[in-house]
Amino acid sequence: MEASHRILFNEQKIEQRVTALAQDISRDYAGKEVVAVCILKGALVFFADLVRSITVPVSVDLIQASSYGSDTVSSRNLIITRDITTDIRGKHVLLIDTIIDTGETMACLYKRFSEQCPASLAVVGLLDKKNRRTVEIPVTYKGFEIPDLFVVGYGMDYGEKYRNLPYIAVLNSSYDV
Ligand code: IMP
Ligand code: MG
Repeated sequence: MEASHRILFNEQKIEQRVTALAQDISRDYAGKEVVAVCILKGALVFFADLVRSITVPVSVDLIQASSYGSDTVSSRNLIITRDITTDIRGKHVLLIDTIIDTGETMACLYKRFSEQCPASLAVVGLLDKKNRRTVEIPVTYKGFEIPDLFVVGYGMDYGEKYRNLPYIAVLNSSYDV
């Protein structure tokens, strides 16, 4: 990386936490099937690792979306650039993202998915910048809480770069955790 950076979670730390999350999910959904939805693009690496460690039957789908506007979630606009093709009515759905920041995008997606009447809907976030939250969302499966730092790697980008880093790094090393 040309920009200064500091590793926050190395590959081993990530793997341990992702495996533990997958175990929690597999235990909670024992005897059921789940539809795992990857929120592109940031979740693609986390998603691929997570689903491979889940032991209950899983089907996968992908959605690419961003939210814009302000004030309340109900008045925000959600732009879907790629939608799921699964009929999720009556299914157990996991909405999976690598990082939850303000929570606005996830809140909009949560509302949209709820309206499609799944049997259950749960949010999975590897990283949670909890003190950046501007809207309440239930994060059922959480990897790590982090402070307000801009992180890259493990699917997350800065200007579309660094998604391929196998670890999670803080972009500017002047930040401190
Ligand atoms: P939210 O709607 O503010 O929660 O935005 C969530 C999205 O913003 C994530 O899915 C990421 O794409 C992006 N994002 C938020 N924080 C970071 C970060 O620290 N690094 C990289 N992307 C981030
Ligand atoms: Mg981005």
